[in-house]
Amino acid sequence: MTKITFSSILESLPDTVPFVAPEELERNRQQKFISRIGANESAFGISARAAEAIKNAVGVSGCSWYGDPLSYDIKTLLCEQLGLRREEICVDAGIDTLLGLTVRMLMNPGDVMVTSNGAYPTVNYHVKGVGGIIHGVPYNDNHEDPVALAEAAHEHHAKLVYLANPDNPMGTRIGVEEILTLIDNLPGNCVLMLDEAYFEFMPEEFAPKINTAMANVIRFRTFSKAYGMAGMRIGYAFGNESLMKGYDKIRNHFGVNKLAQIAAAASLQDEKILPTVRDSVAAGRAKIYTLADELGLPYLESFTNFVAVDLASSERAIKMLSLLDEHGIFMRKPMQAPLDRYLRVGVGTAEEHDFFSSKFPDLLQQL
Ligand SMILES: Cc1ncc(COP(=O)(O)O)c(C=O)c1O
Repeated sequence: MTKITFSSILESLPDTVPFVAPEELERNRQQKFISRIGANESAFGISARAAEAIKNAVGVSGCSWYGDPLSYDIKTLLCEQLGLRREEICVDAGIDTLLGLTVRMLMNPGDVMVTSNGAYPTVNYHVKGVGGIIHGVPYNDNHEDPVALAEAAHEHHAKLVYLANPDNPMGTRIGVEEILTLIDNLPGNCVLMLDEAYFEFMPEEFAPKINTAMANVIRFRTFSKAYGMAGMRIGYAFGNESLMKGYDKIRNHFGVNKLAQIAAAASLQDEKILPTVRDSVAAGRAKIYTLADELGLPYLESFTNFVAVDLASSERAIKMLSLLDEHGIFMRKPMQAPLDRYLRVGVGTAEEHDFFSSKFPDLLQQL
């Protein structure tokens, strides 16, 4: 009989899946969620221009033809908006895909990536997939700690450092100067992966200006969050041209969905989408703050589309997740101590928030 063996790296990996999808939870509970506020998705849909562009493109040119492997139109728009050159941008199927490519591009088996304990876990999954080693540093007062990240990068001779700003799962941000100092303090052969998935929700002055001449930083942004296109799978990396050239050696050149390209280009030309979504998210966060205040629960100021609300212990937070699930509300929480006593309450539609706030106070009594 044929016996197939996986590669030795794959053989060594556990059978884990990084996230259990809300769809899987719905299948298990045999009912749809009423409030889906657990995956930091947008509750506010896509740009009207993008919707129109997709509608017009459905058919031969939008679906039957492959996408443009250079994502030329999107890059042209991004160049105008970000002051970049096309060679400094790589468009692919979301940040998650680009994180995987970055790891493949820069790590050999046994190389080290430094991250924060409890930070966005997808990058860890990719690092393990190439036989890399992960060193975590603790958060500092619910913020990622750039000083500790730089120190650990030196101590472990890291090839990569991962930092999300603003951060998932805590929603906090770190200062411009702190990020610039981190970059200055990285070891010679080490690249910072600066994940800016929630960039659009943060006031612009909080984002550092990083010259793309610096070859030790790659920034990642996405159309999944503020642009409401998570299901379409499109995002981009930008940085020094030499790094972007590396992506071209390994990326799937026809891997970006053509309708996603069309929608992304239209979104970038829609002047209304970002201000509208930012306002809706700010209003949604304010409602979560008010609810938490009314219930006497501490929470963290958020620069994202979710708020970390403190339930005082991991046990209480775990129990709350299962109560919420029983009552039709999908939510997630940080997985590692000491962050794991928080609930990550997403900004939903007005209806989703109202439903959540109608149930949450009673459920709190049951803990
Ligand atoms: C920090 C962070 N990075 C990346 C992603 C995924 O981005 P994309 O949908 O572009 O793959 C998420 C999604 O929740 C995230 O929180």
